[in-house]
Amino acid sequence: MSPRKILIDTDPGQDDAFAILLALGSPEELEIVGVTAVAGNVPLSRTARNAQMILELAGRGDITVYPGCQRPMVRPLFTAEYVHGDSGLDGGDLPEPVQPLGQTHGVDFIIETIMAHEPGEITICPLGPMTNIAMAMVKEPAIVARIREIVFMGGGFFEGGNTTPAAEFNIYVDPHAAHVVFTSGVPLTMVPIDCTYKAVMTPGWLKDLRNVGKKTAVEAAGMAEFYQRWGNTKFGTDEYPLHDPCVIGYLLRPELFKGRSCYVTIEIASPTTIGMTVVDWWNVTKQEPNCMVLRDLDNPPFYQLMLERISRLP
Ligand code: BDR
Ligand code: CA
Repeated sequence: MSPRKILIDTDPGQDDAFAILLALGSPEELEIVGVTAVAGNVPLSRTARNAQMILELAGRGDITVYPGCQRPMVRPLFTAEYVHGDSGLDGGDLPEPVQPLGQTHGVDFIIETIMAHEPGEITICPLGPMTNIAMAMVKEPAIVARIREIVFMGGGFFEGGNTTPAAEFNIYVDPHAAHVVFTSGVPLTMVPIDCTYKAVMTPGWLKDLRNVGKKTAVEAAGMAEFYQRWGNTKFGTDEYPLHDPCVIGYLLRPELFKGRSCYVTIEIASPTTIGMTVVDWWNVTKQEPNCMVLRDLDNPPFYQLMLERISRLP
């Protein structure tokens, strides 16, 4: 079988970096047809540069990064330097990128890529706020029917939120974009914090990653160590989840994940709960499900896979 074609939309972010590296280390199964950057964890000027730096670290500077939207559709940008550090990739020591950024706007790159492929060929993997994806759907509605699936990290229901009591970061930053995507009719798979909180990296795993000894693994370990400190602050443990690689992990090993098809709406009106993903887990509304919501994960084999795949990189 030929590899599944994916387009990654990202706001690196240490955990975004792991998602990109996991995909790059899995070329038999996944072909990255493009990378677009969006404002999220840090402003766009940094997320675009960070994405290029990660690709070059892994020896894939040939994949161009296309910068997309600088701010959410309606609200002002809210960033998360308090989690990721000022650079967005603190803990790593990556050289400045050599390759230039793409000259096409990220939104146009998404549209052009989907239109240039057969219907049902491209899976989109948003790892940050969904501004670029929603803007592409608004600008060229013909893409909607051609997207195979959108598998994204975002939302939370049973765990509540991680940015407000009700909202997870990616959806909170651009709830209006999420609303456009959730009402589009494209097949959706959501990887919320209910699932990603189970994707914890242990100190032992981090040690194994560092011991791989190759440049990419060592830099990844540095970034992970920085990011993991947040776990001590938040959960009081030395374990902390890497959210975004769960998206790629699901594409590679869906059998490690469990979820349910549900009807999901995005709260965009209430100031208290804006950005909440309201999941009708028990189908009390009798609405047709619009999203596969993942809730559980078999974590040890997932981290084993991540270690193996990142070990393949230079
Ligand atoms: C999400 O928010 C960002 O901080 C992470 O990169 C991840 O995409 C987790 O809520
Ligand atoms: Ca992210």
